[in-house]
Amino acid sequence: MQNTEALSPTEILQTLSTRTLGKRLYCLPETDSTNEEVKRLARRGAPDGTVVTAERQTGGKGRLGRAWHSPADGGLYFTVLLREAHLPQHLTNLTLLSGLAVCTTLRELYGIDARIKWPNDIVVGARKLCGILAETDFANGKAAWAAVGIGVNVNNPSFPESIAFRATSLLLETKKQQSRAAVLQRILEHLEPLLEVGTLPPTYAQLCVSLGKPVSFTYDRHFLKGKAKGITPDGLLLIELPNGRTVTVGSGEVVVQGIYAQTV
Ligand code: BTN
Repeated sequence: MQNTEALSPTEILQTLSTRTLGKRLYCLPETDSTNEEVKRLARRGAPDGTVVTAERQTGGKGRLGRAWHSPADGGLYFTVLLREAHLPQHLTNLTLLSGLAVCTTLRELYGIDARIKWPNDIVVGARKLCGILAETDFANGKAAWAAVGIGVNVNNPSFPESIAFRATSLLLETKKQQSRAAVLQRILEHLEPLLEVGTLPPTYAQLCVSLGKPVSFTYDRHFLKGKAKGITPDGLLLIELPNGRTVTVGSGEVVVQGIYAQTV
């Protein structure tokens, strides 16, 4: 069931104040995945900053090969194409900066206590409000372009039982329907300057809920526990082990005590 008006390029472009991001905008009723749509457009030469949104995705993708629940039920699903000018030197920072743009937007527009679970989940309390999937294409050993896909639970009234205990939406947090167009616009407006600088500002660590928390993770095929201590300039998570040794983690799943009802 569609419980919000369909996104329209005319409405969004009227007030969008970015220079590049979203200036080429396709709002589709349905697609397999906006990431796949943007990857197809990128291969056909679409310009830097192209954005694709969809009212629903039939094959929405999450990180680590998971699916992203994408019905036409108030969710915001979109992907931004980034070419060289907007790719940070350290590619890990692409997802971290995208997470920061989302988190800043949600705090600013709705006054909610949105936080970042490293690297790029946005949570309110112990529940997830947004996920980000960045996919990069390499040419001659160098990143040529990236498709950064963002899924924000905006007006979702509820979630399937399997994820209900760890998901939330702006509607559930603010008790009001919110404008998906406004969320999209503001994320793009925050993301553009962050990518132009390309390094991680101190606000990332300030908003990162993982820091100082007990965590568990897989490292070198070993299951380990530790405490998240910091983030390196290239976006890796520093974890202190019980023996005092510090390791850096760059990918995979880091379970944070208390988030998504997890114990470590
Ligand atoms: C995650 O948390 O695992 C990442 C979820 C990313 C979902 C978004 S929705 C828009 C874009 N299209 C996709 O297929 N995935 C991303």
